Amino acid sequence: MNAAAPKALQVQAPDYVKNPQLIAWVSEMVALCKPAKVHWCDGSQAEYDALCQQLVDAGTFKKLNPAKRANSFLACSDPSDVARVEDRTFICCEKEENAGPTNNWKAPAEMRALLNPLFDGCMAGRTMYVVPFSMGPLGSPIAHIGIELSDSAYVAVNMKIMTRMGKAVYDVIGTDGEFVPCVHTVGAPLKDGEKDTTSWPCNPTTKYIVHYPETREIWSYGSGYGGNALLGKKCFALRIASTMGRDQGWLAEHMLILGVSNPQGKKYHVAAAFPSACGKTNFSMLVPPAGFDGWKVTTIGDDIAWIKPQADGSLRAINPEAGYFGVAPGTNMLTNPNCMKSLNENVIFTNVALTDDGDVWWEGMEKDTGFVPEHLIDWQGRDWTPAIAKETGAKAAHPNARFTVAAINNPALDEAWDDPAGVKIDAFIFGGRRSTTVPLVTEARDWTEGVYMAATMGSETTAAAFGAQGVVRRDPFAMLPFAGYNMSHYFQHWLDLGQKMQATGATLPKIFTTNWFRKDADGKFVWPGYGENMRVLKWMIDRIEGQMQGQETAFGVAPQYGEINWTGMNFSAEQFATVTGIDKDAWAQEMQLHAAHFEQLASGMPQALLDTKAQLEARLAA
Ligand code: GTP
Ligand code: SPV
Ligand code: MN
Repeated sequence: MNAAAPKALQVQAPDYVKNPQLIAWVSEMVALCKPAKVHWCDGSQAEYDALCQQLVDAGTFKKLNPAKRANSFLACSDPSDVARVEDRTFICCEKEENAGPTNNWKAPAEMRALLNPLFDGCMAGRTMYVVPFSMGPLGSPIAHIGIELSDSAYVAVNMKIMTRMGKAVYDVIGTDGEFVPCVHTVGAPLKDGEKDTTSWPCNPTTKYIVHYPETREIWSYGSGYGGNALLGKKCFALRIASTMGRDQGWLAEHMLILGVSNPQGKKYHVAAAFPSACGKTNFSMLVPPAGFDGWKVTTIGDDIAWIKPQADGSLRAINPEAGYFGVAPGTNMLTNPNCMKSLNENVIFTNVALTDDGDVWWEGMEKDTGFVPEHLIDWQGRDWTPAIAKETGAKAAHPNARFTVAAINNPALDEAWDDPAGVKIDAFIFGGRRSTTVPLVTEARDWTEGVYMAATMGSETTAAAFGAQGVVRRDPFAMLPFAGYNMSHYFQHWLDLGQKMQATGATLPKIFTTNWFRKDADGKFVWPGYGENMRVLKWMIDRIEGQMQGQETAFGVAPQYGEINWTGMNFSAEQFATVTGIDKDAWAQEMQLHAAHFEQLASGMPQALLDTKAQLEARLAA
């Protein structure tokens, strides 16, 4: 035991909690973690307000100037606790083969033996919050319930925004319903009478983000941040849910979901997988530019999709979340006006800068106001001025600074965002961040080629995860950090699903790849991106409607210059060629990376993908 803990607490569940298994588990966890108090969250506004006030009193939250941002707060984390920790993330299934070579693995018994002493007394001196949440609309047949036990009030209030959190969850699980047990601690127990010396307690040296897919449990130790701590998100809705999907025949994906309507009112739904910090939130809230009168994009989700095949062969998708935990830097009225409008009130900001008049600021906001503030308090609590930034390179906001905001704040929210039946998916997009090599957009000739494209997607690493940035790595399906099982088996699951749907005679969704991030010799993005991505999206819709011929390339079908609507934008055929070109030498190198990737995943690699690779090589050699 790592702290002098009080006598074991007697767990007294509120009378609306009627599930004996749940109460027994909470009692067991209280006995293990030894919190000073247990707080059963009811999800009410009064509770949210009280917890926010408590976080203000503890110095974790700063209340922003209500005249600038009503009912909004800024949290600044420990500088060591700013992103997901992939090297501390584990998939603990019985057989190593089932975790696969892309996941860190330990046998469950071994991991439990390691974690047990860490969790013993880990909440001493703190309150354990019991956070009941539904991923997906409450009571929906596609939704799943989780209960997170956390010693962080920051986690409790973020979960209130990010999920359907509260009392009603207990009605859904009743006396014997299933739930995914999630235990989270910041890993900083307090001795008797000891007070926090920091406003962001965490464990600077020991972190574990652990998943037991076979027993569907999540254990998280040492971090208070984002995907490490809000366990409904990446841990449950992707890592655990992907294994549930494998077993039950559905998909849990790192995808936004949007609706796109044309001037005639015809509507399509698109799900797009871009790696972390590669444009999902932005694309899901896209505002069509000039030249697209009557077109409309609406948001169903910005990060995660649960997709289930239907009896008629269609695929229907829901967003299991209820809020957005989005990247702040780069967000402004030019890049994402819908997002900026979502952030006017009821927001939690994490690791952005504070202005002298009590508002928030981040890099990119100067594009709206036309100036950079003369003075700020940066995300680490230090004075920041343009001169200091010039001298030291210090960013006012951390590059992975985030906002937490309810989906209902989004003016572009789709009317079906909360529909338990979900929306029918017409197309998938897979898009990496590549400054070279990969073209702006291509369409797969068939499902298998699409799966190949997704499986071999490369992307430059970003600040969303701890570690080196800007390094190209394979990020298959944008799921490298999130697949809860063997990646080759995951590819097979996608191929099987396509085959099963095809057997019903259904039209499969088309699969496209995108790359908004190609750069010129000066390191500038060639494609303007953001709202202008509508031009690419419209070409995809045209292709679905069978209207555009496109042109065959080695890597799928690409648009001809004249097939893109250029109204309101100056982009020459030469510029277009620089973002769509397929350079044979660059692709020869790229294919070596595909080969190394497939070598790593050789065990269980579907033959169909090896065949597709050979075809691509033959086309490149021709
Ligand atoms: P996660 O929440 O980490 O999963 O990220 P995300 O995929 O939702 O990415 P997001 O939309 O938040 O964008 C991440 C960063 O990429 C931001 O700084 C954006 O400004 C920038 N970005 C988004 N779309 C584009 C684009 O089309 N072109 C360029 N150049 N940058 C973009
Ligand atoms: C990501 O990293 O893909 C995110 C942020 O969406 S986190 O919640 O930290 O996973
Ligand atoms: Mn994400």
